[in-house]
Amino acid sequence: MPTVKSLTGKRNQARHVVATALLVLAETAALSGQTTLRDAAAAQGLHIGAAASADEYGPPDLLMNPSYAGALSTQYSELEPANAMKWDVTQPTQTTYNFQPGDELVTFAEANNMRVRGHNLCWYQQFPAWLAPYAASATPAEMSTLLQNHINAEVTHFKGAVFAWDVVNEAFNDPSGSAVPGLRDSIWYDQPGIGQTGTGYIEQAFQWAHAADPNALLFYNDYNIEGPGSKFTAVYNMVQDFVQRGVPINGVGFEMHITTSGYPSAAGLAQNMQQLAALGIQVHITEMDVRLPVGSNGLASAADLATQAQIYQSIMTVCLQQPNCTAFQMWGVSYGDSWIPSFFPGYGAALPLDFNYNPTPAFNALLAAMRTPVPALTASGVVNSASYQAGSVAPGEIVAIFGTGVGPDKPAAATLTNGLVSSTAASTQVLFGEYPAPILYAGSGQVNVVVPFEVTPGQDVNLTINNNGQSSPPVSIPVAQAVPGIFIIGGTGSPQQAAVLNQDLSVNGPGNPAAAGSVIVVYATGGGSLSAPVTDGELPTTLINVANTTLTVGGQPATIDFAGLAPGFAGVLQINATLPNGLAAGSAVPIVLSISGADSSSQSATIAIQ
Ligand code: XIL
Repeated sequence: MPTVKSLTGKRNQARHVVATALLVLAETAALSGQTTLRDAAAAQGLHIGAAASADEYGPPDLLMNPSYAGALSTQYSELEPANAMKWDVTQPTQTTYNFQPGDELVTFAEANNMRVRGHNLCWYQQFPAWLAPYAASATPAEMSTLLQNHINAEVTHFKGAVFAWDVVNEAFNDPSGSAVPGLRDSIWYDQPGIGQTGTGYIEQAFQWAHAADPNALLFYNDYNIEGPGSKFTAVYNMVQDFVQRGVPINGVGFEMHITTSGYPSAAGLAQNMQQLAALGIQVHITEMDVRLPVGSNGLASAADLATQAQIYQSIMTVCLQQPNCTAFQMWGVSYGDSWIPSFFPGYGAALPLDFNYNPTPAFNALLAAMRTPVPALTASGVVNSASYQAGSVAPGEIVAIFGTGVGPDKPAAATLTNGLVSSTAASTQVLFGEYPAPILYAGSGQVNVVVPFEVTPGQDVNLTINNNGQSSPPVSIPVAQAVPGIFIIGGTGSPQQAAVLNQDLSVNGPGNPAAAGSVIVVYATGGGSLSAPVTDGELPTTLINVANTTLTVGGQPATIDFAGLAPGFAGVLQINATLPNGLAAGSAVPIVLSISGADSSSQSATIAIQ
């Protein structure tokens, strides 16, 4: 007797061959030649960058160092001047501007097909020598004119060369206690300030930058806002207010100067990104480094480097998963040009390239994060494995989930653990809410699972796929009481011959029609609630019924003899029914299964009647 598995297997195989062929093409394209961060990021559609210097504070000019220049242009598709576009460099006296070091970085970037991120126009420090004394005796009106002129001059100069600006940098205080932090004292805010209250000076700076270059993306940039907390809330409130009132803001920069004991959780970082995404706001990781304790040679322990690598991998993974995370920058190219050793004595080794521009474990971890495809799926790719209809799922239903990177490249079949179908296949896991689903098949483009019995009809459930340590963003799916689908034999054409056995247990089909009044066995899935509890992954050995089942053939009701779980299979329903007497013959007579008020009519299944 043909098993239900072999009947359904053929259909899955056909689908799978097409999906696999497409994926092989996609993966070949994506994986070839990815030995640089830049190439790996490009394959993911991400810009990856580093803070860069020329000779803004005097010789030597770092861009003249072939190792530095080579690493910068080979590994990164984007650069951000570490200092060359700050006030102390760009406006050395009140009446003169110096854009030469910035221009040199722009020229280098253009020659190497890189983008330039501008940093920054308004900050509380790194001023030229004349500015603080000037501010000490200036009026707010004079400060306003000064800031407006500076922003206008700099943004105008770099118009078309700088794609995004950190307009205002680090304007919020660090949290103390649980209160939402206020604005940091500065010559622009309140000492003497430019004559605006609250976040008004920030808003004004964005307006001036937008007026000078309406095409540049405008960012607010800060640290300690990577994970949820009162400082993020303060920034979020400002951004939300700006968005609601039409102030031109496009993004928030998360600096990400972190340590092995102080860094955002993947969930927390994702949450902050999602909250900003809901406002239509992009996120750039702007200044990532993970500083480690170092010896006098500037090097860190292997254990710390391994921890650091995991942190880099996890932050990169979140960025890849969140569509609004559109750039990822390190704060420096190598250990040798990192700001960490001079600002955090005793620390260093914070970047993915060491003193000799050789890859560190963090480099390899970033590469690994970008090379592993992040599982991706959509609600419309979650279908009843018999009817191939998307929509709702039901407890105990076999669903096929189509996506990319959802399972192993080498397909894995179901395995049993303690007599239950296992919820892990290769390194794939499928979660409905918190409940892992038994896996019947897992390939890179398709995973078939049995929906856990714990899902609640009438509610939505979040479906997540983990593969190779990468998680898909959750997809919300409605849960229904029942979603009956009849398994089909053969291709997707029409009519759709149902997987039905005749009374002699031969397979029904146009060449082997069933007699009116005889018994047939119909295989289906999506029956929902059961007469007795069944454990996820259980292969039932007793007869367990589904509720309220009817079967019509040629529009006439058949008599249900048994409707329940197919013994020995997970998620498969078996309906034994006696066909009505006097049923008209035909090679494609419609057969419709109805359970708990839901029916299979949308799939047009048929059987052959003699
Ligand atoms: C740092 C530079 O790397 C140093 O060279 C400079 O002496 C001080 O500033 N947050 C920022 C960056 O937004 O501008 C800072 O860059 C690092 C912290």
